[in-house]
Amino acid sequence: MKQRTLAGRQVSAIGLGAMPLSMNNDKKYPSFEDAVATVHAALDAGVTLIDTADIYAPDGEEMGHNERIVAEALRRWDGDASSIFVATKGGITLGEDGSKGRDGSHAYLRSAVERSVEIFGVDHIELYQYHRPDRTRVYADVMRGLKSLQDDGLVRAIGISNASVEEIQIALDVLGEGNLASVQNEFSPKHPGSIDELRFCADHDIAFLPWSPLGGTGGGASSVGDRFSVFREVGEAHGVSPQQAVLAWELALDPHVIPIPGARRAASITDSAKAADLALTTDEVTRLSESVGIFD
Ligand SMILES: NC(=O)c1ccc[n+]([C@@H]2O[C@H](COP(=O)([O-])OP(=O)(O)OC[C@H]3O[C@@H](n4cnc5c(N)ncnc54)[C@H](OP(=O)(O)O)[C@@H]3O)[C@@H](O)[C@H]2O)c1
Repeated sequence: MKQRTLAGRQVSAIGLGAMPLSMNNDKKYPSFEDAVATVHAALDAGVTLIDTADIYAPDGEEMGHNERIVAEALRRWDGDASSIFVATKGGITLGEDGSKGRDGSHAYLRSAVERSVEIFGVDHIELYQYHRPDRTRVYADVMRGLKSLQDDGLVRAIGISNASVEEIQIALDVLGEGNLASVQNEFSPKHPGSIDELRFCADHDIAFLPWSPLGGTGGGASSVGDRFSVFREVGEAHGVSPQQAVLAWELALDPHVIPIPGARRAASITDSAKAADLALTTDEVTRLSESVGIFD
C-alpha cells in the first residue's frame, strides 16, 4: 500500500479509525472477538496506522474500551506488531453518571496518557492527540502541558484535534515548527469546511488526518454515494465503491492527508484500504472538489 509520513515515520496512506468498534451512532457493537478480527483485517490489508482514543467506549463502559481492543488485537496478530503506528487521544473526561466533559489541565492529561501507556503495555505513546479544546483553558498552556509529556518521554509525537487555524498556529508557536505532528479534524464530502485547516497543515508540513472521512456512522458513510452522486460516478468509472472514490479524492488533495476511515466489519476496511492505490485523474479530482464547493 502507498505510504505517507506521520511524525517522521512511514505509515499506510489509509489508517483504521477504530472508534466504531466501541462507539457509533447506531449503538451497535461487534463482539470483542469480531472487533479484534476487524483490526486484524486492517493489518492484513497493509494498514499500519490505527487511530483510537481513551474515551471511545459504549455507554456505561469504562474509558479505554477501544484502546483495549486495539492493544489485544496487536498482541494476538501474527505479523510484526512493532511496525504498527498507534495514535491515541486524551482530553475528554467521562463522569460516573456517563456525562462527558473536557479537561486540558497538565495533571489530567498526564494521568490520561499514563493510563493509555499502561493499556498498550508500552513506555510511550507514538502519537498523542489532544482530543477537543477545553475552552476554560488557554490553548498555549495546554500545549505546554503536552510538551512536558514529550520532554518526560511519555509521548513521542504530539497531535491536536478539532483545532482551528488559530489554534494550530498557537500549537506551532509553543511546540516549534516541525514538532506538531498532526491535526485531526472532521473532513468529508459532507463536511468540507476543514479545507482551510487542511491547506494550513500542508503549508506547514503537518499531517492532516480527516476524521469521519466518509461521513460518519449512522448512515453518512454507507450512503455517501447516494448523497454525493459524483463520487459514485467516479467510483463506477474505476469499478470501485463510492467510499474508495471519497478516500482517493481526499488523498489526492495533498500528500499530507491521511484518512482514517472507521469500520466495524472487516469488509469495510478491506475495501477502504484499496483507496490508497486508486489513482484519480486531475480532472476527476477537480470535478469531485467542485461538487462539494472546494475550488483552487
Ligand atoms: N477526533 C475526533 O473528534 C473524532 C471524531 C469522530 C471520529 N474520529 C476518528 O475518525 C474515525 C473515522 O470516523 P467515523 O468512524 O466516525 O466515520 P467514517 O469513517 O466516515 O465512517 C465509518 C463507517 O463507514 C463504514 N465504511 C467504512 N468503509 C466503508 C466502505 N469501504 N464501504 C462501505 N462502508 C464503509 C463503516 O461501516 P461498518 O461499521 O458497517 O463497517 C463505518 O460504520 C473514527 O474511527 C475515529 O478514529 C475522531
